[in-house]
Amino acid sequence: MHSIERRASADSTLAFIDAIVGRHAGRPGALLGILEAVQEKTPHNFLPVETLRYIAEKTNTPLSRMYSVATFYALFNLDPQGEHTICVCRGTACHTRGSRALLESLELELGVSGEDKAESEGKKLSLTTPDGKYTVRTVACFGQCALAPVVEIDHRISGHVNERTLQREIKALNNAGSK
Ligand code: FES
Repeated sequence: MHSIERRASADSTLAFIDAIVGRHAGRPGALLGILEAVQEKTPHNFLPVETLRYIAEKTNTPLSRMYSVATFYALFNLDPQGEHTICVCRGTACHTRGSRALLESLELELGVSGEDKAESEGKKLSLTTPDGKYTVRTVACFGQCALAPVVEIDHRISGHVNERTLQREIKALNNAGSK
């Protein structure tokens, strides 16, 4: 992209953020609504640091608060997301029913890793394949414990998942992408 085009695209992003901030001003839960709308509109569905800074400035919100909101809610992403998102529940019920093995096989299959590091640091996992096709995430509980282990693929919840069904799902996504 040429610098003039880049500039024009940056200007339109800022104009969009200004409009969103204006629309939510003074409403309860304004910050959440702003972040959600901006993330939705950002390519690769995430909130870049410079965007958070700009919103902080526009809404007179301390940057530290912006970060705590963006990191607390599972909905928000601070890194670019893959085309498909696979989210494995790591809550107690799902853990007891083998979610760790599911996650490990997924990491192996897609060639991403980081579970141990994220878990030892008490963080949610979010790993994206280098080709940008898949993001593997973890969540603390989907609230569907009776269906454990639970995996969500592109916002669709599946229960009683095993390695075979998971592999089948990934194969279907791969096939859909190669048509
Ligand atoms: S622990 Fe997995 S859905 Fe509750």
